[in-house]
Amino acid sequence: MIKNPIRLAIFASGRGSNFEAILSNIISKKLNAHIVAVISNNSQSGALETALTHNIPAFHVSQKQFATESDFSKHLLEILKQAQTDLIVLAGYMKKISSEIINEYKNRILNIHPALLPSFGGKGLYGHYVHEAVLAYGCKVSGVTVHLVDDGYDTGPPILQKCVPVLEDDTADTLAARVLKEEHKIYSQAIQLFAMDRIQIKGGRVHILSKE
Ligand code: GRF
Repeated sequence: MIKNPIRLAIFASGRGSNFEAILSNIISKKLNAHIVAVISNNSQSGALETALTHNIPAFHVSQKQFATESDFSKHLLEILKQAQTDLIVLAGYMKKISSEIINEYKNRILNIHPALLPSFGGKGLYGHYVHEAVLAYGCKVSGVTVHLVDDGYDTGPPILQKCVPVLEDDTADTLAARVLKEEHKIYSQAIQLFAMDRIQIKGGRVHILSKE
C-alpha cells in the first residue's frame, strides 16, 4: 500500500521538460504526489536547476565520483531511502539503472520512451535517433510508452501507451514535438495510477484496476 501523496524521486539527465510537466500537475493538484528528490548525473541538467528553483532537494550524482559502480548505486540507494521514496521516475535519465536499485525498488521504477515499444527502443535509440528511425522506416504512427523498468534497455512491461500520427512532411524535430506533448500528459497519468494503487502486475503484464 502506497502512502498518500506518493513520494517520487525523479532521475533526469537533460532539459527536464517531463519533470517540469509532472511538477506543474502536482502544483495544479491534478496529480497527488510529492517530489522528494531530483537526481541527475549531469551537473548542467535543466532538471537540477528547476528543482533548486522550487526548493526540491537536488542531487548531482555521477558515477565518476565513485571508485566502483556498486559504491555509486549504494549512494543513490541511500538518497532514495532517506527521502522515503515510493516510486522512481526516470525522465530522460541517460544511464542504465543498476540491478541493485532495480531489486530494491522492484516494479516501482518507471521510464518514459518516445515511441511505441517494443518498436524503436533499446540501446542507442534515444532522443532524435528514435524519431529518425521511425521516419526512416516510414511508420504512419508513433507515440509514447510509459513502462516499468527491468534489467534490459526499454524492455519492462508497458503501463500506458499513446499513439500520435506521423505526418508526411514530418522531420525528427516536428515528430519529437508532437510526441513530447503527449509525454507531458501521459507520465502524470501513469504516476497517478500508482498513487491510487491501481497498478497490478500479473504474469509479467501490467493490469490497471478500475476505480473503486
Ligand atoms: C523524452 O523524450 C523522454 O521520452 C526520453 O528522454 C526525453 C527527455 O526529455 N526518455 P526531457 O528531459 O524530459 O525534456
